Amino acid sequence: MVDVKAIERAKEHFGRILEEQLRRVEEMRSAQDWIDYGRLKVIKIGVCGGDGIGPYISESSRTVLEAMLEDEIKSGKVEIRTIEGLTIENRVKVMKAIPDDVLKEIKDCHVILKGPTTTPKKGDPWPNIESANVAMRRELDLFANVRPVKVPEIGVDWMFFRENTEGSYVLGSKGVNVTDDLGIDFCVATTQGSERILRLGFDYAAKNGINKVSVVTKANVVKTTDGKFLSVAEQVAKDYPQVKWDDWFIDIMTAKLIDPYRRKEFRVIVLPNLYGDILTDEAAQIQGGVGTAGSANIGKRYAMFEAIHGSAPRMVDEGRAQYADPSSMIKAAAMLLNHIGFTDKARRLEMALEVCTQYEKAKVMTGRSNGATGQEFAQYVLDTVNDPGLERKWQGYQRPA
Ligand code: IPM
Ligand code: MG
Repeated sequence: MVDVKAIERAKEHFGRILEEQLRRVEEMRSAQDWIDYGRLKVIKIGVCGGDGIGPYISESSRTVLEAMLEDEIKSGKVEIRTIEGLTIENRVKVMKAIPDDVLKEIKDCHVILKGPTTTPKKGDPWPNIESANVAMRRELDLFANVRPVKVPEIGVDWMFFRENTEGSYVLGSKGVNVTDDLGIDFCVATTQGSERILRLGFDYAAKNGINKVSVVTKANVVKTTDGKFLSVAEQVAKDYPQVKWDDWFIDIMTAKLIDPYRRKEFRVIVLPNLYGDILTDEAAQIQGGVGTAGSANIGKRYAMFEAIHGSAPRMVDEGRAQYADPSSMIKAAAMLLNHIGFTDKARRLEMALEVCTQYEKAKVMTGRSNGATGQEFAQYVLDTVNDPGLERKWQGYQRPA
């Protein structure tokens, strides 16, 4: 027997989702301009520690950021604030992905450096609340998740542009159990949402003289949402005749990232939310693990910088949190510096990080007491930044693949 009432309830729920999403389309249509950090009197940076190893690696990253911005902090051009309370305990207490007071403090800043936060799933000891990441990306409209992965010795130099406010994730907490036996989730793609991420990817390629954009979908099967993403890509590409582009399906793309010949060809990769989540973990692993990769979440008004990995509660349980690798969050700090206009400082920090993690390796993170602590590693990176011979050292390590 078909449960008519259950169907009606689900329809109502679906109706509300449609209203919400159409409102979002209207907001995107009247999109505001990009914020100009150069014109701000004070640039406010908020630091959220997060859960698990989050507070440890955030602290190391903050130490580096503060040292890099010492003059600007002294002169009052930059202010770094601590934002407490984005912890799983607090979020569960008020049953919200981001407690209201925390969100207010976040919105009072311009950019956020954020440690990983616990994302509960069904069956965990925590109530199954929405992911703080997904919520923050939505609340601050951080539509572009930009993730660089670079391994010079094998010729890998990738820049991922993952769509961050739509796809299968943004309604991930709004699926319906129509009956006990039928669960339905929703995946959303809008013309405006697809266009803004694709444009950012093509723009990046054009501005940096990169002649290759790859768009990844599963448009042959997921015909409506991925189909839209791909057809918007075809339109956007017309505005960039100087940039060559191609499209790939996600399954074969995951294979090609480990094809030593093909993978060198990829440069800028633009993709919907779920595929971007998966492919960037794979890419980070090729670089040396998710602990090595940083992630920028960018919107027109706000931006948030973080590690691409989770909060590793096991490390805390085993008493190893101080040995957690802060590279990902130091990388995130470098991306933050670059984003707010301190491009020389960002480049120097990236060079130092590359020297420390990929070449010189005078201090190595193992995640255990036989390796360096996060704070020791942060100091090593800072000493390398301050080494007057850094540029020469870095050059010396560069060899063509
Ligand atoms: C990431 C993470 C998050 C995501 C989780 C924690 C929600 O995996 O930033 O890639 O899926 O976006
Ligand atoms: Mg992920």
